[in-house]
Amino acid sequence: MAEIGTDIQKAKYLLEAGELVAIPTETVYGLAGNALNTAAVAKIFQAKNRPQFDPLIVHVPDIDSAKEFVTGIPDKALLLAKHFWPGPLTLVLQKKSTISDLVTAGMDTVGIRSPNHPLTQQLLNSLSFPLAAPSANPFGYVSPTKPEHVNDQLGDKIPYILDGGNCQVGIESTIVGFEGTDPVVYRLGGLSLESLEEFVGKVSLQTITSSNPKAPGQLLSHYAPGKKVLLGKIEELLQEHPAHCSGLLTFQTDFNSPNQFILSPSGSLAEAAQNLFTALRAFDKMPVDVILAELVPDTGIGKAINDRLRRAAATTQ
Ligand code: TXA
Ligand code: MG
Repeated sequence: MAEIGTDIQKAKYLLEAGELVAIPTETVYGLAGNALNTAAVAKIFQAKNRPQFDPLIVHVPDIDSAKEFVTGIPDKALLLAKHFWPGPLTLVLQKKSTISDLVTAGMDTVGIRSPNHPLTQQLLNSLSFPLAAPSANPFGYVSPTKPEHVNDQLGDKIPYILDGGNCQVGIESTIVGFEGTDPVVYRLGGLSLESLEEFVGKVSLQTITSSNPKAPGQLLSHYAPGKKVLLGKIEELLQEHPAHCSGLLTFQTDFNSPNQFILSPSGSLAEAAQNLFTALRAFDKMPVDVILAELVPDTGIGKAINDRLRRAAATTQ
């Protein structure tokens, strides 16, 4: 198992030595390595069992640092970075040659973001290189939002997990690319469409593709827990799946079942997002055959929650 702690010096030392360290961000935990060290980047793909066609996100402390690695930044990208960084927004921009093809899976663009977590900001500011970091989970599985989630699955593959507590947002960053100068959302995430559109006007969505995805996060089946997920009205699903062997995942409703997880009893979408991946993981350890889940209100971060629920369900249909 990996050591879990809050020692930034230790994380820095390991990363400088080309090792991998799990880092906290406001969205989910990342599996970080030196983005400028090809051997370290290769270790990330290996540890996650991630196909090499799936590019990594590069993490930087701020806009100035991002400018060392990207070029031709559209005005709207700069506007978004100024408003939302550090924060749950990844921008897909033209890469400079300092970023290797391994990081970007051969694409001439790179996903880049500045994460909003005090420990990781301190770490990034102390390093002379940016961090490549996908979510710290095996490829295709639910992202981790607590250090223990990382340790459960990747603990034997990495030396250190920097403990930043529970992730405050709980769902991955929103990914925005550009067609010409027009923003396109490739992945719904922690930053809501509504917030984006306040600054740059209407954005188009390109979040589901079945072949040659720009982002494997766009693959219909992704973000899946170990159990089969069925989406619908819980009452109706319960008519076909007996309560004693079903896990119930609800937004607010209490079904008085021992195998249920209520995302937010008070009806807060932010709280539901924080709890979503912990809930999906919790069912893996419960004596249930199937997870019966309902969608949440489709507004704000609720859109990203529903996106993840649909993708989790799609794996098994
Ligand atoms: O919140 C997050 O974004 C977390 C934390 C750790 O920052 N990271 C994360 O990384 O979710 P990952 O690798 O699990 O998902 C990144 C997604 C992938 O689906 C990848 O295909 C897409 O970003 N991506 C990366 N670079 C891209 C690019 N140049 N063009 C299009 N999509 C890209
Ligand atoms: Mg991921």
